[in-house]
Amino acid sequence: MESQSGCSLPIIYKPFDGTEKSHWVDRGHLYDFLYSTKGMRKKLLDFGPGDGWPSLIIAPFAQEIVGLDSSNSRVQICTENARRLGINNAEFKYYSAGENIPFDNNTFDGIMAASSIEQTPNPKQTLHELFRVLKPGGQLRIKYESLHRYKDGKEKDFWITELKNKQSRIILFNRNIEEEYVIQYGITLSMSRQELRDVISKIIKDISYANIAELLDIIKNHIIHVNKLRTTHPSGKTYAEWLKEIGFKKVIPSHDGGMAAANLYDYYKDIKTVREVESVDKLIKPTAKVVCYLDAPIKTDPPITAIK
Ligand SMILES: C[S@@+](CC[C@H](N)C(=O)[O-])C[C@H]1O[C@@H](n2cnc3c(N)ncnc32)[C@H](O)[C@@H]1O
Repeated sequence: MESQSGCSLPIIYKPFDGTEKSHWVDRGHLYDFLYSTKGMRKKLLDFGPGDGWPSLIIAPFAQEIVGLDSSNSRVQICTENARRLGINNAEFKYYSAGENIPFDNNTFDGIMAASSIEQTPNPKQTLHELFRVLKPGGQLRIKYESLHRYKDGKEKDFWITELKNKQSRIILFNRNIEEEYVIQYGITLSMSRQELRDVISKIIKDISYANIAELLDIIKNHIIHVNKLRTTHPSGKTYAEWLKEIGFKKVIPSHDGGMAAANLYDYYKDIKTVREVESVDKLIKPTAKVVCYLDAPIKTDPPITAIK
């Protein structure tokens, strides 16, 4: 995949546009990560950066950032994005998933992890490793995808993604919310996403997880590979328990600077003088600074800051 985000990220792929709510939210996340890690002019780790998010938006404020990812193509894309943006204090490194993180104990002042810990083979072991490489007094900020959002009807789901060389992939998700895990099946097909959509629209009305077997039977000659993956998706409560058990001195489930920025956008959207990044930042920065330390109920699966 050339871009995980569909090239939608402000700053990284597009100039900041103050009329776009998602661009305000992005600034909210930026200041949330910056203040919750105490990352100003510090050495930070971005665990699982994807397209370089948040590392590339934080880089101008930090001393140095390392992005660590277990996908070689993500590392290449992040490196290319940094080069294109003229960012020279961010470096991206590959390591093999499941192995120890390739840094000495007490290396980083702060660590950010956005939707990445739950992608690793053993999230609890990953947290142990993040604890090890964080300096005493350093702060880890995690944002994660818990499964509660899929309650009541979205436990079973599927996506269709476009791949290179006129291939596509159907991904089936079977989510077990109570036991906090997901089984994914990836079915790679020798047909483009459009060709697949054409077959679906001709033959099956209202394609859903329940009738996907019917579709697979029709396109079975196009299946070139199937893989199965089980991932653990801890809830906020589980994360908080693990972080304490691992030895973090303080665990703070808190409100989210991104969400606060969304609320600010709703309030200020008709005020035309608040459009440039500088004027938007003037509102978001102090708000995110406070919000990311405001206690939030753990049952809402909020972002968590853990202090070593
Ligand atoms: C959902 S993406 C999130 C990307 C980015 N942080 C964001 O929020 O846009 C998850 C990222 O974690 C990476 N990842 C998956 N398993 C990993 C592992 N074991 N160690 C480090 N990164 C991993 C993926 O390659 C991907 O870049």
